[in-house]
Amino acid sequence: MKTFTHTALGLAAFVSASPLSSSQNLLVPASPTKDAKSPLDHFLSYSIEFSSFADFAGNLSKPNTYSYTLLKNLAAYAGSPPLVRVGGNTQDLTIFDASQKLAVIQSFSQSNPDYPANQTIGPAFFESYRTWPGVHFSHGFNLADNSTEHRQALLESVPFACHALQDRFYGWELGNEPDLMNITLAQAPPRGSDWSEATYVAEWLEWTRKIRQQVKKACPKLASSEQFKFLAPSLAGSPSLSNFSAARVFEEGLNDDNAVGIISQHKYIGARGNPGITLQGTLMNHTNNKRAVNELLAVSTSISNIPNRSTLPKNAPYILGESNSLARQGIGGVSNSFGAALWGFDYALTLVSKGIGRWHMHQGTNYRYQAWQPIQTKNTTKGTKAPYYGNVATAAFLGDLTKDRPKIVDLGLPHDFQSAFASYKSGKLAKIAIINLQSYNTSDDNPFKSSSPRPVETYAVQVPSRCNRASLQRLAANGSDAITGVTFDGFSYAAELDEGRPVRLSNVTRGEKVFAKRGQLLIEVPASSAVIVNLY
Ligand SMILES: *[C@@H]1O[C@H](CO)[C@@H](O)[C@H](O)[C@H]1NC(C)=O
Ligand SMILES: *[C@@H]1O[C@H](CO)[C@@H](O)[C@H](O)[C@H]1NC(C)=O
Ligand SMILES: *[C@@H]1O[C@H](CO)[C@@H](O)[C@H](O)[C@H]1NC(C)=O
Ligand SMILES: *[C@@H]1O[C@H](CO)[C@@H](O)[C@H](O)[C@H]1NC(C)=O
Ligand SMILES: *[C@@H]1O[C@H](CO)[C@@H](O)[C@H](O)[C@H]1NC(C)=O
Ligand SMILES: *[C@@H]1O[C@H](CO)[C@@H](O)[C@H](O)[C@H]1NC(C)=O
Ligand SMILES: *[C@@H]1O[C@H](CO)[C@@H](O)[C@H](O)[C@H]1NC(C)=O
Ligand SMILES: *[C@@H]1O[C@H](CO)[C@@H](O)[C@H](O)[C@H]1NC(C)=O
Ligand SMILES: *[C@@H]1O[C@H](CO)[C@@H](O)[C@H](O)[C@H]1NC(C)=O
Ligand SMILES: *[C@@H]1O[C@H](CO)[C@@H](O)[C@H](O)[C@H]1NC(C)=O
Ligand SMILES: *[C@@H]1O[C@H](CO)[C@@H](O)[C@H](O)[C@H]1NC(C)=O
Repeated sequence: MKTFTHTALGLAAFVSASPLSSSQNLLVPASPTKDAKSPLDHFLSYSIEFSSFADFAGNLSKPNTYSYTLLKNLAAYAGSPPLVRVGGNTQDLTIFDASQKLAVIQSFSQSNPDYPANQTIGPAFFESYRTWPGVHFSHGFNLADNSTEHRQALLESVPFACHALQDRFYGWELGNEPDLMNITLAQAPPRGSDWSEATYVAEWLEWTRKIRQQVKKACPKLASSEQFKFLAPSLAGSPSLSNFSAARVFEEGLNDDNAVGIISQHKYIGARGNPGITLQGTLMNHTNNKRAVNELLAVSTSISNIPNRSTLPKNAPYILGESNSLARQGIGGVSNSFGAALWGFDYALTLVSKGIGRWHMHQGTNYRYQAWQPIQTKNTTKGTKAPYYGNVATAAFLGDLTKDRPKIVDLGLPHDFQSAFASYKSGKLAKIAIINLQSYNTSDDNPFKSSSPRPVETYAVQVPSRCNRASLQRLAANGSDAITGVTFDGFSYAAELDEGRPVRLSNVTRGEKVFAKRGQLLIEVPASSAVIVNLY
């Protein structure tokens, strides 16, 4: 018996009589498994491309309040706003010029329209760190450009950076993906055949020491041994391109000065240009997400297993410091679709359940996997993109991490195209997330637009006897190929409605309640949608 119509749910062709509908049982343990993992505070964080930071944050005369609203929406669920890492490829393509009046001057090459081949920044660039009160940042220095002149300029930038970050600092970074620095990166001169873990560590130590001397002079508070910390080594970790090893980097003494505060590793689940990438097979595939997270964990294990463990930083968490769906800024029609929002929700919970406590989701202006476009450009409309809704669902599911960090357990549903997770607070089952990753096409311009009704999977969820009712929050859109019309819990965060503030849509159902019968909740999850089941 359904009490909702298809449009009311925001789910096209949501009908109970669909011949494609089926049901299955989902057993949910009353308490978490012994090895269940919790996220860190700020689990859902962002990484903003260095060359796009001024677009995302604005400056003091014109702060980007739309971006700030989107960060605050997440803080409303998470208890604190995302951390923002300012870095990426263009961090190593940026030169400081103390005499430059403009914040940023960029040059593009013919071969890469996605980000500048290089840029110079002036002191005004650092205003962008002051536009979002309450948000904490890391600032990325250029390691790649080793000319004497540009190294000197880097040191001259330190006082501007440390003054701007004084009350909103969570780390420095020197170099993005140094494991690829011997491979041509746009205009950056690649390192030679002597590039290795040892040469990287020697250079990193030399320049972090010099940065520290500048911080000591300009911002003594940030130079103390507790405060002067880096995220590192920020490797890309692509064995097909380089076998530069994170474990080896620590053995070579990266942490000799105890300056590594966060062990950061990057990981994309695939890359634009690789063969065989599809929305269904690559993104909307829980098995593929588990594969990617296992690869990330293998790096962490290799670091922990080094023979001399006293070379490792104490209490430095291992995090995913830059990541998104598909490297090389994503694929249009894939990385910006609602399917990518479902991917992001599944990936986030897979990370937490396997013990990766923080995820910096990367984005840049015009990037095809961005959570939002911060400004209007000739290529991309300013606005909240589908992946943002996966971020909101993640923040809502994990809840206020400043108070009570839940334990998250993957409930191990079979097959590639579905997943379910349980959240336990103080040892008790609190929520369940069910993600139906079966693709369903809805767009008129898609030659594969589905002509059949939207399939619905019914989950008979076996819950502890004290849980007798539940309220539902749905992550919904018309289909996995939709790029607009996405909602979470009946709200739109569209820029054009209220500049990114949540707006309740009257054409989408909200506030559904389900009652348990003999310890069982029946939860219907249409293809290409997800639901959070809040238990009472
Ligand atoms: C609900 O209304 C919004 C805003 O007009 C629209 O974008 C969306 O597609 C609608 N959703 C449904 C399911 O009709
Ligand atoms: C501040 O931002 C505005 C709007 O983007 C821009 O016109 C102005 O040049 C910026 N200021 C500096 C110093 O770059
Ligand atoms: C910056 O990029 C432009 C465009 O590709 C190029 O002509 C110029 O030489 C580059 N400048 C530096 C300092 O690398
Ligand atoms: C933006 O559009 C122009 C012209 O249509 C195109 O040449 C360029 O590659 C596009 N840039 C991006 C980042 O997609
Ligand atoms: C910069 O790196 C290149 C390539 O490894 C090397 O040949 C050059 O000597 C370095 N320059 C300086 C100033 O250290
Ligand atoms: C770059 O260095 C890494 C680590 O030393 C090595 O695995 C890789 O083959 C090198 N790549 C090139 C193009 O020299
Ligand atoms: C890295 O190691 C793997 C496994 O030994 C090998 O297949 C791959 O070719 C290596 N990559 C590079 C760039 O040398
Ligand atoms: C899902 O991902 C797994 C792991 O990468 C892969 O083996 C499988 O073929 C994928 N499924 C589909 C339908 O593409
Ligand atoms: C292990 O590393 C520590 C810290 O770098 C060092 O002091 C110590 O000598 C090393 N021990 C061995 C056996 O190499
Ligand atoms: C949805 O459309 C994509 C192409 O955009 C196609 O590859 C896929 O097979 C379609 N899915 C279904 C279930 O028909
Ligand atoms: C979603 O479907 C509804 C009902 O068919 C339709 O009115 C609405 O325009 C669709 N939204 C989008 C963004 O396509």
